[in-house]
Amino acid sequence: MKIPFGTISITEESKKLITEIVNSNRLSCGKYVREFEEKFASLLGVKEAVALSSGTDADALALAVLYDFGAQRGDEIIIPALSFVATGNAVLEAGFKPVFVDINRKTLNIDSSLIEQVITEKTRAIMPVHLMGKPADMDKITALAKKHKLYVIEDAAEAHGAEYKGKKIGTLSDIAAYSLYIAHIITTIEGGIVVTDREDFASILRSLRSHGRACKCKKCILNINSGYCPERFKNGKDIRFIFERIGYSSKMNEIEAAVGLGSISHYGEIITRRRKNLISMVDGFQRFKPYLTTIKEEAYEKIGPHAFAVIASSDAPFTREELSQFLEKKGIETRDLFSSMPTQCEGFSFLGYNLGDFPNAEFIGNHGLHIGVHQDLGDKHVEYFLNTVDNFLSQY
Ligand SMILES: Cc1ncc(COP(=O)(O)O)c(C=O)c1O
Repeated sequence: MKIPFGTISITEESKKLITEIVNSNRLSCGKYVREFEEKFASLLGVKEAVALSSGTDADALALAVLYDFGAQRGDEIIIPALSFVATGNAVLEAGFKPVFVDINRKTLNIDSSLIEQVITEKTRAIMPVHLMGKPADMDKITALAKKHKLYVIEDAAEAHGAEYKGKKIGTLSDIAAYSLYIAHIITTIEGGIVVTDREDFASILRSLRSHGRACKCKKCILNINSGYCPERFKNGKDIRFIFERIGYSSKMNEIEAAVGLGSISHYGEIITRRRKNLISMVDGFQRFKPYLTTIKEEAYEKIGPHAFAVIASSDAPFTREELSQFLEKKGIETRDLFSSMPTQCEGFSFLGYNLGDFPNAEFIGNHGLHIGVHQDLGDKHVEYFLNTVDNFLSQY
């Protein structure tokens, strides 16, 4: 049996749309991107969604909005030490300095009790990551942000379908950024999307994704690459060539949107299947304590079924690598559970952190892995995975 990490199904509806789009020659960001944005926004119940070319850009552009509200290049953004490296890269891509905070090993998320001590005059935002779809400690984070007049921008890349105290993740902060990469629940193959209730933020995001252009009305995004847009000519000037801010080239294209529209139309089924896989794995995994554990779903939350986390304890008589090699040999694809960005990812060494500064993030960096829970998997795959782990542990 094989348990691949991810899957994608390009629906019949998407295939039809793709053919239509290719034949129309109208391929760049246009009406299907807009339709996808509207559907994504209504899924979450937010006013605005702006589609981009990656989840990393979704993080970066969400942060870059802050320059319109007094932030300066080099200001600080607080992020957890453990995440997929894109979170840290995005802060740098946006021109800010990442300030890292250790995580709580049990939740894999930023340890909210350590945030206040790193807030300085230069801090502009806290960017919690809902890692593995597990909601971060949003009550504490939003209270701290309010106290220190900071923005909260959620990295919800892995948190499609997650809920916190009756509210959908992505609706608990000023802006939230999602990845639509192939391994994620709603996918456009490559892509990202930013959601917000603030119309001013959304129009800045539309400008940012198109080089910082002045034209940012919704009509404009439909006409930007073809045809006549009456909004384009203001006071006798073509605002398409007025650049109001430092921008990015990060538009989603129509083919990606067509894949996304197909994905979103099956969202209900996808999330139900993935949740079932995740919960069965969580339940079945309890028998592997104390050597192997996973994250727990609290009564006030719903974990978004992105993937299944496995953490080997420090006194386990085997290494994470021995476990992942065993699983891989049995056809179960594994991924490491990321690393401590500041101390285990070479690229961040210029920031001057030292190994040992983030013990919990580093622990997960050495002891964690994750496997797929996607919609092509079912009860028999879950059973196979649990039996395989049983077989592995029986060697010790
Ligand atoms: C937590 C987190 N943030 C950001 C990203 C970046 O998304 P993308 O790969 O679409 O650029 C990912 C990607 O998986 C992620 O897991």
